Amino acid sequence: MSSIRSMKGRDLLTLSNFTREEIKEILKLASEMKYLLKNGKYIIPYLNGKSVFLLFQKPSTRTRISFEVAIYQLGGFPIYANWNELQVIRGETLEDTVRAINAYCDAIVARVYKHSDLEIIANVSRVPVINALSDLAHPCQALADCLTIIEKKGKIEGINVVFIGDGNNNVCRSLSEAILKLGGNITIVSPKKYQMDSSYADFLRKNAYKDSSLILTDNPIEGVKNADVIYTDVWVSMGQESEYEERMKEFKKYQVNSELLKFAPDDVIIMHCLPAHRGLEITDEVIDGKNSVVWDQAENRLHVQKAILALLV
Ligand code: CP
Ligand code: NVA
Repeated sequence: MSSIRSMKGRDLLTLSNFTREEIKEILKLASEMKYLLKNGKYIIPYLNGKSVFLLFQKPSTRTRISFEVAIYQLGGFPIYANWNELQVIRGETLEDTVRAINAYCDAIVARVYKHSDLEIIANVSRVPVINALSDLAHPCQALADCLTIIEKKGKIEGINVVFIGDGNNNVCRSLSEAILKLGGNITIVSPKKYQMDSSYADFLRKNAYKDSSLILTDNPIEGVKNADVIYTDVWVSMGQESEYEERMKEFKKYQVNSELLKFAPDDVIIMHCLPAHRGLEITDEVIDGKNSVVWDQAENRLHVQKAILALLV
């Protein structure tokens, strides 16, 4: 097993303060965890009786379940709380809520609307804080996606990943950061209005590994021409519901469907963080088709999060 000392006690709010080597170490441990589980080793007691608090402001299927199972399989105890069930909704401050959680728990996994809430939690907390999705980042998803690409394509270095959809959303931002750090190339295909902020794109380029490239375009056909991976996500993320009508119009031409796949290589893999809105960003025939790896991605959330918890907590 890999050394588990160096990352102890750290927060995972975004991938920005994790080096390429650290990301690789997480992925390596995740792969080992997966191998052990597949061979019947269900419990590996890295958490050994520790309790982890799961604080969710937004709905979740995969993240909540995979974290609860991950904590159980590491010999720990998960405590899930929906935001609306806590005293914060009756006026207790977020800071005091964190102080209370710190009295009992050894780590906090939080899904929030505003990334600034995560920063508040992390500033107050004495125990590691892990981002389970914010408006700005979804690092656990990106790490699971990288593990999936490595399993399917053998590597990330030199691989062309094409994200089609909202270039500024949490999933796209974290995926781009991970791919560029690991030496892959990323093309983001978005309507001009929803293209990745140039300041974030510059930041990513500055921190990219060697010749990794980040290309921004609004042309799906051009974008997918040399794709090894096509990735899409919802057009309307949680918290953006008031923009629904406008986004439906803007993103209409950005659907991942079999017409578009005619322009991509035959062995391209199709990825989606899920939940999918079938018939909008992706069609049934593509998400259920032979190139789709979306259920491997979902499964890999478990293995990657076990590795994250084992290394950080
Ligand atoms: N991909 C993902 O985070 O899914 P959930 O919203 O279901 O957790
Ligand atoms: N971008 C989506 C991801 C859901 C897992 C959202 O934030 O709603």
